[in-house]
Amino acid sequence: MSKLWGGRFEGETDDLVEAFSESVSFDARLAPWDIRGSIAHARMLGARKIISKSDADKIIRGLKEIAKEIADGSFRFDTRLEDVHTNIEAALVQRIGEPGKRLHTGRSRNDQIALDMRLWARDQVDATLGQIRGLQAALVALAEEYFEVILPGFTHLQHAQPVLLAHHLLAYFDMFARDRERFRELRHRINVMPLGSAALAGTPHSIDRAQVARELEFEAVSTNSMDAVSDRDFLIEFCAAAALAMTHLSRLSEELVLWSTPEFGFIEIGDAFTTGSSIMPQKKNPDIAELVRGKTGRVTGALVALLTTMKGLPLTYNRDLQEDKEPVFDASDTLQACLTIMARMLPTIGINAARMSAATQQGFMEATDLADYLVERGVSFREAHETVGKAVLYCVRLEKRLSDLSLPEMQSFSPYFGPEVIKLLSPNTTVRRRNHPGGTAPARVRSALRRAKRSL
Ligand code: ARG
Repeated sequence: MSKLWGGRFEGETDDLVEAFSESVSFDARLAPWDIRGSIAHARMLGARKIISKSDADKIIRGLKEIAKEIADGSFRFDTRLEDVHTNIEAALVQRIGEPGKRLHTGRSRNDQIALDMRLWARDQVDATLGQIRGLQAALVALAEEYFEVILPGFTHLQHAQPVLLAHHLLAYFDMFARDRERFRELRHRINVMPLGSAALAGTPHSIDRAQVARELEFEAVSTNSMDAVSDRDFLIEFCAAAALAMTHLSRLSEELVLWSTPEFGFIEIGDAFTTGSSIMPQKKNPDIAELVRGKTGRVTGALVALLTTMKGLPLTYNRDLQEDKEPVFDASDTLQACLTIMARMLPTIGINAARMSAATQQGFMEATDLADYLVERGVSFREAHETVGKAVLYCVRLEKRLSDLSLPEMQSFSPYFGPEVIKLLSPNTTVRRRNHPGGTAPARVRSALRRAKRSL
């Protein structure tokens, strides 16, 4: 096809080059933000009399009509017009003629795409924040419903100490609270208006950047035109925050997968969120949790892709920057889909409290409390550790639990064991004794729950 910006050329563009370099097949989704930015730009050009007020009005009207066509699906994007910007500008000129050719005054696609990506990313952050909150609410609801349930807490995936299920669930709540904080913080750095930087050095026209920033609800205008057209830090940060949130989702998924095995039997995920096997009739597979875990790799991949694309780029705009889009779009879509489905799946989970409780009877999880008891009687912690270790070994050999031991048996390991030690040997007591901020005692977890609900 003939050249888009053809004045300087005599030859045509190779078809293969057109197909290789077009971006409209994936950047067409930026159209609503592109048009919003163009409307603000046109209004400013009119207000500053850089173009006539009547041309500005025609441009704005034309852009709004195009936005409607795009929204209702009747607009035809053409890959021969390369990208979203050119598609919309060409449609505008076709629709309103001469005035449409004045829209690009004092602007370049370089600051235009920077603007579009910032507007887009800001909206994705807001949507993501809402979805994280939805997931946190689902965690809180589960924690409240099963507040009394105690299960083994694990280190090294070995029984460690009993904890409240609510405490376990609120651990994820805290991870997602940090994710929300991260997205909120990064929103400030997204929220800087790059338009006016033009290609790289600014423009001789007497533009009013503050007006555009105000209309588009930016907190600030960029302070260096060269940085503004080449900066993609905000997208890298977006991917980093997304990758970390996905990592948290993935850890939660992994626990759901583990807990729904017959070996654990702690939970059963609802039928609507599990799948059968094409060959094994008995199967009920936690595919959704597995997929969330699996999709984490794509989002981490997006972060690495962006960092790698940026690392060798000289100032200012380079076409490499077009490669930011597919990874960052995929990262955002993936994260939002995973947050949504996880929030929907959590309420379908049945908790097998009896299995969790039975599991707390295994693994000698009261051992630390016994050692701490001896410490309270004046024994050094290291010696107490050794003493209780021996008692555990004794139980392992005789296939007994610590709570099966009689007082004289206990006292054969240490004369400091007294009758009150018996009541220490229950998960309830063990949990209750961890009564400090951040501990798993029910009173503490109750107030953590209250705080969590307030933060939503
Ligand atoms: N499709 C381009 C991108 O995503 C838009 C900016 C093009 N600018 C240019 N000078 N070729 O980066």
